[in-house]
Amino acid sequence: MRKPVIAGNWKLYKTKDEALALIEELAPLVAGVTNVEIVVAPVFTVIPTLVGALSGTGISLAAQDVFWEEEGAYTGEVSPRMLLDAGASHVIIGHSERRQYFGETDGTVNRKIKAALKGALVPIFCIGETLNSREAGETFKVLERQLKGGLEGLSETQFAPVIIAYEPVWAIGTGKVATDEQAQEAHAFIRGVVAELYGKNAADKVRILYGGSVKPENVKGLMSCPDIDGALVGGASLKGSSFASIVRFGE
Ligand code: 13P
Repeated sequence: MRKPVIAGNWKLYKTKDEALALIEELAPLVAGVTNVEIVVAPVFTVIPTLVGALSGTGISLAAQDVFWEEEGAYTGEVSPRMLLDAGASHVIIGHSERRQYFGETDGTVNRKIKAALKGALVPIFCIGETLNSREAGETFKVLERQLKGGLEGLSETQFAPVIIAYEPVWAIGTGKVATDEQAQEAHAFIRGVVAELYGKNAADKVRILYGGSVKPENVKGLMSCPDIDGALVGGASLKGSSFASIVRFGE
């Protein structure tokens, strides 16, 4: 059985005090939840601040990006070692906003996934098609290219910890959630590509999260799809009450 993962991507929101206030609200609301892995991804500067507040809550910390070198003359970058040192256990890689605004490619995503794994961080590897690609009937082609490009050169053993997040770009921050059928279809396709790359066992085990306008009102339907193993939540993760309802989707 695949344990569901509900991850909150806080994007460029929440200062230290705001983040602490959010955790103070969220932690009691998800206390006792053991059947779901809970992850929050604040901005880099807030990661060390939350370590103490999250201790004993079962909530893990993710960064929103990482660089592929361990150290060196790379002004402005943050390495897997530094993230681990700060208290992160997971890292989001290849989010569509990074691909769109910061020039990330399948090649840089691949280097980052490898570096994260080498640095003992769990990558949350994001893929997803734009509206143009979907309308052109190229969704599967794009997903396959992103998956194979991002995972290039990884062995089955290396791949094992990777979490995949399917985030159709047209559903991010738009309020336009993919239908359960659209999401399930994409997730099944992604699992099929993983099976092709690493075999059925790896495909059965990999967690594939859906992201894009996930809300307390739509999470149940999405989570009832056989190939959807969790959610990567943006806007609705910025409030303790809505994120907690998403975490508690099964109740
Ligand atoms: P929204 O939930 O705000 O649509 O954002 C989704 C997302 O990009 C999570 O990474």
